[in-house]
Amino acid sequence: MKLLLAEDDAQVRTELRELLSEEGYTVVTASDGIEAFEKFRDDKDIDVLLLDIRMPRCTGLQTLDAIRKIDVGSERIFETIFITGNNDSESVVSALKLGALSFLFKPIVVEQLLAEIDAAKESISQRRYKRLQREVLEAQIAENKGRLSRLTQELDGGYAAAIQMLALSAEHYIPGIELHLHRVGEMASVLANRLGFENKEVQNIRFAAVLHDIGKLKGPEELYNAERKLTPEEFEITKAHTQSGEEFLSHSTDPVFKLAAVIAAQHHEHFDGTGYPNGLKGDDIAIEAAITHAVDVYENLRAPRPYREELPHHIAVGIMIDGDDKSSPDHFNPRVLQALLAQHRDIEAIYERYRPAKA
Ligand SMILES: [Fe+2]
Ligand SMILES: [Fe+2]
Repeated sequence: MKLLLAEDDAQVRTELRELLSEEGYTVVTASDGIEAFEKFRDDKDIDVLLLDIRMPRCTGLQTLDAIRKIDVGSERIFETIFITGNNDSESVVSALKLGALSFLFKPIVVEQLLAEIDAAKESISQRRYKRLQREVLEAQIAENKGRLSRLTQELDGGYAAAIQMLALSAEHYIPGIELHLHRVGEMASVLANRLGFENKEVQNIRFAAVLHDIGKLKGPEELYNAERKLTPEEFEITKAHTQSGEEFLSHSTDPVFKLAAVIAAQHHEHFDGTGYPNGLKGDDIAIEAAITHAVDVYENLRAPRPYREELPHHIAVGIMIDGDDKSSPDHFNPRVLQALLAQHRDIEAIYERYRPAKA
């Protein structure tokens, strides 16, 4: 334990230093406040300040104030005991404000001095222990956070891999569908973000939307691969991919796959109730499915078909907002359509980024 004794009276200083040295303390002395300040600043081992309040050049209070103000003491754990010759309540209040531990009044009683130094030692060791506890706790929290984010990443990696495998399996049966699934997933995440979903939800919607057509794996693949327009009867058959997708995906209780099941079931429902398979209307259609529906329509309008050219961005968006013989703006949740219009450049960019090979 190292003490700094700042006392302008040379005799008192010498007596106290000898006494404390005999008690086993290492004592550094200073004859005024400035010297005390400098010695404390330069010697990180000093734990206890014994400061005379009245000293030339800089009082004990100014010394402690300076130490606190310039923050040299911010990371240091130390205690201050003031020594004062007069029972000056104003100085005592000031000293307390500065965080002094205690006061000794001259003439100094040795037992009192040693008792106060013991109290300072005790306080310092308690504060060090608390700091250590806090550091250990903070380290544990940081470690747990790290572990959690690693887990989340691994989980996301797991989803991405599982979804990629499903998309690839679908590609095996229906060439070109993998690109469609990924574009729809990414476009859906843009709209979800625009509509104010949290980052994690946006991510979930992205994963879930990729799986919207996964029911097509159940076939009949010749209809999905037909290089011509389907007959009305054939089209009726393809509608079952919504229910097949829901059936595949509802085997999981995982939130992403549960959401994917809802999207698979409802992504051909129309806001005005004219969609399939259940003719759901308005807000009975999950917003995530309404989002997927809108970007799926955009993506299907744009993508080339064996029987027609690829449509330019502005024509596809124009059909969505004005309607044509198949499409009507009433098919879309108005909030979703607005979000699509607001983000149309991003939607276009996603389509361009994952440009399909020539059909
Ligand atoms: Fe579909
Ligand atoms: Fe689709």
